[in-house]
Amino acid sequence: MKRLVVVSNRVGPLKDTGKAGGLAVALVDMLRERGGVWFGWSGEISDVGTFSELRRERSKTVELCTIDIDATDNAEFYAGYANRTLWPVLHYRLDIAEFSPVFEAGYRRVNERFAARLLPLLRSDDQIWVHDYHFFHLGAELRRMGVENRIGFFLHIPFPPPDMLSALPRHRDLVRSLLAYDLIGLQTDRDRRHFVDYLREEAGGVDLGDGRVEAWGRIARVAAFPIGIDTEGFHEFADGPEGRRERLRLERHLNGRRQIVGVDRIDYSKGIPHRFRAVERFFDDYPEHRGKVSLLQVAPPSRSEVDAYAEIRRELEHLAGHINGRFADVDWTPIRFITRGFPRRALSGVYRASRMALVTPLRDGMNLVAKEYVAAQDHQDPGVLLLSRFAGAAESMGEALIVNPYAADEVASAIKAALDMPLDERRARHHALYTRLVEGDAKHWANSFLSMLDR
Ligand code: G6P
Repeated sequence: MKRLVVVSNRVGPLKDTGKAGGLAVALVDMLRERGGVWFGWSGEISDVGTFSELRRERSKTVELCTIDIDATDNAEFYAGYANRTLWPVLHYRLDIAEFSPVFEAGYRRVNERFAARLLPLLRSDDQIWVHDYHFFHLGAELRRMGVENRIGFFLHIPFPPPDMLSALPRHRDLVRSLLAYDLIGLQTDRDRRHFVDYLREEAGGVDLGDGRVEAWGRIARVAAFPIGIDTEGFHEFADGPEGRRERLRLERHLNGRRQIVGVDRIDYSKGIPHRFRAVERFFDDYPEHRGKVSLLQVAPPSRSEVDAYAEIRRELEHLAGHINGRFADVDWTPIRFITRGFPRRALSGVYRASRMALVTPLRDGMNLVAKEYVAAQDHQDPGVLLLSRFAGAAESMGEALIVNPYAADEVASAIKAALDMPLDERRARHHALYTRLVEGDAKHWANSFLSMLDR
């Protein structure tokens, strides 16, 4: 088996501290099996930046290698092009995207620097797997430096329709860089379609029909690999001591009332304000449920240095206050809004204690909360997933109640339907979803990507 080199902006941790995302855990497992290197940003901003000494941390067969960035890189690459330009454009939000040649140059510079720092760590038969929108150009930079290894790229976030992407200045340079990868992985068939449409419309490209595309004189393989979670592992969390403790704590508090749960990084793509308004609408349309149902929204802040993120947080605090002011009683609060993260094991108990989950992003590459909620349920008495049609997960989770997050009345009546859903229907839907999640788990995702990259 070839050694694996994974590149991503956020890396690790190598040891499961309970805080790492499910994806990080899956990638570490993969790296352990094959032996390999995980290369990326240390999370530190220092004066030496990408010229910093390589930080190395080894755990058995895996080595974590990281470098810093400097304050300019942070402003132009991370908070700039990655999160003020690419993130909104790829999430269909041209209205808030910022286009700046300075950000763009910073993004190129950091991609080039990361490639240069990775280069000496590479062996000629390594398989290289680059992740996400921070590193569109990294593969092309490695090629320029003479690297001939197989290099794959996986985009964790949506690939928008060509009309949207073409609003990005010099969009062709960005996509052309992708063609330097041997395999381009996207989350869903819809993303793949957009990508191929883009090549056809903007680059005179062709779909060769056998999973490969040709554009700018290069041939690459393009496929959808819907990302999964460690389904059975997460299910077991909910039965484990931390999961159980959290569930019991919640059940004591709920005292027979039913709970709806939402868990999202504070991000405008997640549709949290729309969700709050839908819950308000629910209490307007079905007043008999006041005092009996509540929403627990867990929302760890993120990217707060970017204005749009600070704004959405203020909006949410305002909305939660407004809705609570309208409906709360001395012994009941309709929305509990918690702006910090929970360890994953505890979260599994929160999911288990919740009668339904509202996963209603306006646009999302996949959304693993939807999958974790299903995984955490008690098979005998499962809760109901309400899922936005605009989450990548909707493509393979058709037994959820699929909703349009923009339509508050529709979401409100789906909440009502979920509350009223009989046990046998809940079980049937859950069984279908869970079975598919076991088949398409994180291991399956990584294995299918890497075996296609090998081919
Ligand atoms: C999304 C992206 C990841 C990113 C994560 C957290 O899931 O696809 O690449 O790491 O958000 O965002 P942050 O900016 O904190 O890394």
